[in-house]
Amino acid sequence: MKKFLVTIIIITAIFSSLFIYTNNQSKKIAINQNKNKISTNKKQKKETSKTEIKQQNILLVNKQSKLSGNYTPQNLRVPNVKFMNSSDPNVRQMENEAATALENMFAGASKDGFTLLAVSGYRPYEYQKKLYDEKVEKDGKAEADKYVAEPGTSEHQTGLAMDLLSTEYTSLDDGFMNTNSYKWLLENCGKYGFIIRYPKDKENITKYNFEPWHIRYVGLPASQEIMNKSITLEEYLAEQNASK
Ligand code: DAL
Ligand code: ZN
Repeated sequence: MKKFLVTIIIITAIFSSLFIYTNNQSKKIAINQNKNKISTNKKQKKETSKTEIKQQNILLVNKQSKLSGNYTPQNLRVPNVKFMNSSDPNVRQMENEAATALENMFAGASKDGFTLLAVSGYRPYEYQKKLYDEKVEKDGKAEADKYVAEPGTSEHQTGLAMDLLSTEYTSLDDGFMNTNSYKWLLENCGKYGFIIRYPKDKENITKYNFEPWHIRYVGLPASQEIMNKSITLEEYLAEQNASK
């Protein structure tokens, strides 16, 4: 009987030790998994903030935020899209990434039955100066300032902007807004990284009259957010800064 009792005690002790050991091992594994999770989260956080920084890297050019006279974008090329016959061959270039996005957008429009026509892309400082001076000469400074940027303040100097129309409407004026091509542009340009840079009823912010023909490449996802919210680049950047 005593022998039996001793055997039972020994067996119970062995099982208890085994249970405690297994339990500890599981805890250790859980702690390690947790540690891994924390380090992955940290990594993800780092990557998110990199993306955020990239997103912030949107070039703002407006009446207050100027470019120097010798600012020239890198990697300019003529996008492989249809241009208006009257388009000046000297101002057809865009920055490479923007040019590719423009090609994709023109192809998308074409699939939906619209033939977009590019008019004016990268304009060097001196070219913009000539445009501005001519407009001032013709209509006076106050009127010129509503439509043409002073040299050094034009997005066209960044290589990220393009003026465009369509076979449906070929005058560079706000009549373009009443076309189906413009409706398509308004609904779809955000998907390709572009925004309508000087929207209707935002003149108090942009300081320019509505220009349905002027699109600006900002890249995704900024373009989509700006177009979905119907806001300006200035408002978007202010929102981004406020949420930092
Ligand atoms: N039309 C726009 C404002 C420009 O001249 O850049
Ligand atoms: Zn323009």
